[in-house]
Amino acid sequence: MNVLLAGATGAIGRQLIPALTKAGHQVTAIIRNPGNRERVKDLGGDSLVADVLNRDQLLKAVDRISAHAVLHQATALRGASPRLRPDDPTNALRSTGTTHLLQVAQAVGATRFVTQSLITGYGYFDHGDRVLTEDDPFGQQRGTYGDPVVEGCRSTEQQVLAVDGIALRYGMFYGPHAFSDKFADMMRKHLPILPAGGGGTTSWIHVADAAEATVAALERGRPGQAYNIVDDTPITWGQFAAVVATAHHTPRPKAMPRWLLKLTAPYLACLMADTSMRVSHAKGTSDLGWTPAHPSVHEGLKRIAT
Ligand SMILES: NC(=O)c1ccc[n+]([C@@H]2O[C@H](COP(=O)([O-])OP(=O)(O)OC[C@H]3O[C@@H](n4cnc5c(N)ncnc54)[C@H](OP(=O)(O)O)[C@@H]3O)[C@@H](O)[C@H]2O)c1
Repeated sequence: MNVLLAGATGAIGRQLIPALTKAGHQVTAIIRNPGNRERVKDLGGDSLVADVLNRDQLLKAVDRISAHAVLHQATALRGASPRLRPDDPTNALRSTGTTHLLQVAQAVGATRFVTQSLITGYGYFDHGDRVLTEDDPFGQQRGTYGDPVVEGCRSTEQQVLAVDGIALRYGMFYGPHAFSDKFADMMRKHLPILPAGGGGTTSWIHVADAAEATVAALERGRPGQAYNIVDDTPITWGQFAAVVATAHHTPRPKAMPRWLLKLTAPYLACLMADTSMRVSHAKGTSDLGWTPAHPSVHEGLKRIAT
């Protein structure tokens, strides 16, 4: 397939271009900065320059292009503030960005559309020991600090599933350029990164496995379906930080009282301290024939440690 990919230079995008080309697809990346052309080329893709939030520029850039599929992997989490702003750019990419990319799909004649979503769309609270599936309420919970993220996930999914596209509810990313690298950097600087007590449990996914699942969804996902893309082993943020410290040879993680985390980084408090969830990938395994090559964070970071 000819695939248009937004978000090609992000944590998952960098893994996706080689995974797509290896599977025989041709990738054209939508990049904002022409300086990223070479990086995309080295990864195996072509590129065109446009901002996903600039509708006119985007539609002009794809004017002479035809493609079979559009993949939406654009977020703005790299420079994200620990406080969610009402005009949060990742939320804009999930709502307005999705609208624009669906218009692109129509303009280029694409019949497949895959969007990124997030397991926290199930709600920022303690879900207990029950394992969440795609049948659980999603994008509905209100009344927590994470509301804008839940709303962004709801918006992209609703728009995409309505036109028989596919939504991928990724677990927390780790691996190159993802949470594990971030945690390792902060632990090297002896910065506190955890809520006291280690925080809640969550489901994780190595970015390389997320990329493989995305290729599988593009090829075999059922139209109008959402899939959880997570590994087999939910662990707490404290356990995650400990595995990262061992793998990256950093000092041990430091914690701070919950009230202080809430005061200084309210979104992280909501994500790490208030939320606990275990998520199943059984539907993705059955429909997509996909299983994570790294069943746990421990396995996924083992190679770094040796
Ligand atoms: N499930 C998860 O846990 C999850 C999901 C996503 C990200 N994250 C985390 O967030 C951190 C940063 O992620 P990331 O490296 O993927 O960074 P990011 O800064 O969120 O970038 C993602 C991609 O979106 C592109 N992009 C952003 N705004 C755009 C726009 N208006 N138009 C076109 N493209 C746009 C970026 O392009 P530019 O290069 O031009 O900025 C980049 O290619 C990592 O720690 C990652 O693990 C986690």
